[in-house]
Amino acid sequence: MERKMTLYIPTNARVWLITTLIVISFGFQPLPSYGDQHATAENGEVQSAPLDLTVVDKLLTTTRTVRRRLDLTRPVEPEIIEEVIEIALQAPSGSNRQNWRFMVVTDPDKKKIVADLYRQSFESYAGPRPTGTPTTSGQRIAASAWHLSDHMHEVPVLIIGCIEGRPDNPSPAAQAGLYGSILPSAWSLMLALRARGLGSAWTTLHLVEERKVAEALGIPDSVTQAVLLPVAYYTGEDFKPARRRPGKEVTYWNTWGEGRK
Ligand SMILES: Cc1cc2nc3c(=O)[nH]c(=O)nc-3n(C[C@H](O)[C@H](O)[C@H](O)COP(=O)(O)O)c2cc1C
Repeated sequence: MERKMTLYIPTNARVWLITTLIVISFGFQPLPSYGDQHATAENGEVQSAPLDLTVVDKLLTTTRTVRRRLDLTRPVEPEIIEEVIEIALQAPSGSNRQNWRFMVVTDPDKKKIVADLYRQSFESYAGPRPTGTPTTSGQRIAASAWHLSDHMHEVPVLIIGCIEGRPDNPSPAAQAGLYGSILPSAWSLMLALRARGLGSAWTTLHLVEERKVAEALGIPDSVTQAVLLPVAYYTGEDFKPARRRPGKEVTYWNTWGEGRK
């Protein structure tokens, strides 16, 4: 007599087995590895995925003000400028108005006008030109700031971050709304440049002569300039995190002046 063999599989094991078979038959999608920027779901939606914090944190902590190490001899491709601007436009803006504007200056005559106005403002701000070898950090910054001021016209690309509107309303909310709608994107621009081997320096001294710069570049009276970024490939290999005050010293929890309990 033939004996019938029945294979008994418990319910939870059956569920597991069926799920596994479905996954195998529909194709196994491995989880994105660290460093992948996006994972695309079956419906085509781009999902966020873990980022490589080593890379991200390095970018955030080593995007320095570059002055002496701007390569004045190497041209910067216009496409790379367009690419970093696209990235910078992912920054927030008040009511998502996106009323930022980026004035890219590559014309040598126009760069000279901006650079001359910058130098004029810089020299009256900085006082007498330092002499001798700088020894302290303050002296090194001053020496590098003078270097940039002397060579601004030679930097391949100058980018002026602008915002439509004027800072006419003195209320803190209005001022924060105006400048807060251009400064985050300008910082993103610097980060995106750094990630591509280009350096920049956050500068504002040309703003002393904002209207003259506006006139030279055809910037309307209704537009505010917020920052001037000289852009070039940087020389040398890398940058280091800067010495800063510890976070605990400048962070208060719940009551001004109090640390976390
Ligand atoms: C609002 C602002 C204005 C600045 N203006 C100038 C400037 O006009 N010229 C300049 O050489 N650097 C300028 N800097 C750069 C600072 O000197 C620089 O960020 C600071 O020394 C710290 O150096 P780090 O950016 O390399 O950490 C400015 C920075 C900020 C945030």
